[in-house]
Amino acid sequence: MEAAEKKEISVEDEAVDKNVFKDCSKIAFYRRQKQQLFKKSTYRALLDTVTTGEKSTNFQIINEATKISLLAEVYGIEGNIFRLKINEETPLKPRYEVPDVLTSKPSTVRLIACSGDTGSLVLADGKGDLKCHITANPFKVDLVSKEEVVMSINSLGQLYFEHLQIPLKQRAAKENEEDASIDTSQKNQEDLCLWEEKFGKFVDVKANGPASVGLDFSLHGFEHLYGIPQHAESHLLKTTGDGDAYRLYNLDVYGYKIHDKMGIYGSVPYLLAHKQGRTIGIFWLNASETLVEINTEPAVEYMLTQKGPVAAKQKIRSRTHVHWMSESGIIDVFLLTGPTPSDIFTQYSRLTGTQAMPPLFSLGYHQCRWNYEDEQDVIAVDAGCDEHDIPYDVIWLDIEHTEGKRYFTWDKKRFPNPKRMQELLRSKKRKLVVISDPHIKIDPDYSVYTKAKEQGFFVRSHEGGDFEGVCWPGLSSYLDFTNPKVREWYASLFAFPVYQGSTDILFLWNDMNEPSVFRGPEQTMQKNAIHHGNWEHRELHNIYGFYQQMATAEGLIQRSKGKERPFVLTRSFFAGSQKYGAVWTGDNTADWSYLKISIPMLLTLNITGISFCGADVGGFIGNPETELLVRWYQAGAYQPFFRSHATMNTKRREPWLFGEGHTRLIRAAIRERYTLLPYWYSLFYHAHVASQPVMRPLWVEFPDELETFGIEDEYMLGSALLVHPVTEPKATVVDVFLPGSNEVWYDSKTFAHWEGGCTVKIPVTLDTIPVFQRGGSVVPLKTTIGKSTGWMTDSHYGLRVALSTKGSAVGELYLDDGHSFQYLHQKQFLHRKFSFCSSVLINNSADQRGHYPSKCVVEQILVLGLRKEPSSVTTHSSDGKDQPVTFAYCAKTSTLRLEKLSLNIGADWEVHIK
Ligand code: NOJ
Repeated sequence: MEAAEKKEISVEDEAVDKNVFKDCSKIAFYRRQKQQLFKKSTYRALLDTVTTGEKSTNFQIINEATKISLLAEVYGIEGNIFRLKINEETPLKPRYEVPDVLTSKPSTVRLIACSGDTGSLVLADGKGDLKCHITANPFKVDLVSKEEVVMSINSLGQLYFEHLQIPLKQRAAKENEEDASIDTSQKNQEDLCLWEEKFGKFVDVKANGPASVGLDFSLHGFEHLYGIPQHAESHLLKTTGDGDAYRLYNLDVYGYKIHDKMGIYGSVPYLLAHKQGRTIGIFWLNASETLVEINTEPAVEYMLTQKGPVAAKQKIRSRTHVHWMSESGIIDVFLLTGPTPSDIFTQYSRLTGTQAMPPLFSLGYHQCRWNYEDEQDVIAVDAGCDEHDIPYDVIWLDIEHTEGKRYFTWDKKRFPNPKRMQELLRSKKRKLVVISDPHIKIDPDYSVYTKAKEQGFFVRSHEGGDFEGVCWPGLSSYLDFTNPKVREWYASLFAFPVYQGSTDILFLWNDMNEPSVFRGPEQTMQKNAIHHGNWEHRELHNIYGFYQQMATAEGLIQRSKGKERPFVLTRSFFAGSQKYGAVWTGDNTADWSYLKISIPMLLTLNITGISFCGADVGGFIGNPETELLVRWYQAGAYQPFFRSHATMNTKRREPWLFGEGHTRLIRAAIRERYTLLPYWYSLFYHAHVASQPVMRPLWVEFPDELETFGIEDEYMLGSALLVHPVTEPKATVVDVFLPGSNEVWYDSKTFAHWEGGCTVKIPVTLDTIPVFQRGGSVVPLKTTIGKSTGWMTDSHYGLRVALSTKGSAVGELYLDDGHSFQYLHQKQFLHRKFSFCSSVLINNSADQRGHYPSKCVVEQILVLGLRKEPSSVTTHSSDGKDQPVTFAYCAKTSTLRLEKLSLNIGADWEVHIK
């Protein structure tokens, strides 16, 4: 690493320098919108301009002050979604509309214009359940579902649209032609930073001038809002005070501050609101810098009834206003109407796609640090894991593995024979992940650089020429992943013959892709850098990293000729990144508070589509005390992406370096992860095909229980397990809320049980991971653990059946080859359903289309909550054979244990308990 960067890091080590990053007061479009809204200019919809096409209903909206009109388009989208687009009717030049995020084509449904008086227009979907009530003056849209106004748009009159203008200098000549809505006196122009915005030593020259947009949404009866990652903040969104907003602007913030609304690595401009009986969503498709204000207030509401307004019921309930503001682009917003949390997940995935099905190995444990020094180091760590009986699947190489941070190369001294090293890992059924960042060292002898340069594949600076910025390799240029040709070329670099030293066990890690530019404004790229199609960086900043991961994943698929699933971890992301792999929460700190915040951060990512996410176990920056490290492993084992990682100036922290007692605890946590892999894999399949998040906040599973709406120190894994990681030092007890008054919960280790709807005090020691199984569920697991997932293909299954208060339970298992696309193209998979009812456990097919030859059997069944000792247990196979089974019943814990079974996982069978 260069001395300059070393210094940079040690300075950063201390704390986040707030002078490096903007707060709202330093963001000109925020100031402009606030100032202008104060003046309250109104918009009116011109309903005599309504045209109804195949797909959308269009009309003009006019700004009463400036008389400039906008074009509004309203679309109905299959699955109870509305889309509202607002753009200039005739902009000076086209405004950026985010491409490549929406899945091929969310199919539109024709909206029918129903009655409406002269001042309004009512559009209904075919079934008439959902209506869009458009009021002309002032312009307002109410979303009505079954006679209930769910959401109002522009009811606060915060619609804001800065029309593209002729540059100031040219305008000076044509006096009196200014946009009347904006005061153009010289002083004011500077204050408002219309054409130039200064921040510290940086000057952002805006060729297109001001172009920001904004709109308000009032959510009736809602006071619980979630989403809009990424912030190191609570799961439940907070009210934003004066001069405060959630910022969506992808930034590299080393050791980011927690409980802060500043933007960090990724952005998903999607917000969910929940109340008893309804969940809704607002997806604001804009990739420029975005701010979101949230304000909840008590309000008197009128409920429309069938009998008309006279009989309208008056009711006091809260209402939350959400104000979205973006620096540029257009207003393109999707309104998801639920009504259930599950419907919302399906609706959002219809728009942006579902979680990619991960290769099985990537759900195992990942061993990473910056850096594993050389081949010997890798071999020693690999051997250390075996010696200490620590299962792991992947070892990672950070930037130092390359020749001077030239990605796609190897440091010849440290890694003289990368293929040999990979062959060793392969023999252990393990994988390697290497890093590939978007900055490319400016070096005429580096072929990736020269080829990209030749073809014009770099982002350009606004003065012309390739953009140059400093990152790990020193002066670098940045690949323009927004260009499909660049993505295609970048993808081709992963082909085995091209990427020398790579094999099919090598997978990828995209880092620094916000993009991070050392010494750039806010450590990122100048907003006026130029991308493919002549778009300014400001238009698409938040989607840059999304495109790199897309190209990398495509490269991995192509190198296998379309056969193998890729694995790509990215730091920066946008809505839809779930289609390309996994995400992590960046440079966290080895402190208890960061362990704690990892839970809400991951929950927020999960409900906004990105199930495959994790936080660096141990904390990236600093040296965790041993207790913290152990607790972090225990928490990480129950988070979707499970990787330990540490920065370069930290002490080594492989799991066996903290004394045998602690090694045992870490080993136990990792082994729990591997035991539950069948459950994890089934959950990911469910996320992949049915859009349901893997890690779920309690309110998702218990949507009518108010007490769950603010809980973020525990969560559900799927619908069966409740996890409450210990995140306090020296804990002797944790308060666990067990939801659901009709539920029963079982401690996954002691099998003690509690009725739901209360908080229980669970005594803990350093080896306790509080995990509870919900009555009514069946959890599949593995009965033996191998050195990695690869060693467990043939290990047998166990089923943990936790009975509900009614004595029943259901669960699923999904399995396939774990790595290819055969599950998709050839239907090579098994999807089994387990149901326990009237003392009979049945295994049958959950999806008849799937076939997969598995030799595995269910060899153990544990039934929790069986009140009476059975007199006999028999298995019943599909060919009619009955066989008695020996069993052990424990009256104290009400558990029945069946062992040494040999019930084929893929066959239909029953177990009868009498
Ligand atoms: C920043 C990443 O967040 C971190 O995980 C990585 O180790 C360093 N870059 C070096 O590549």
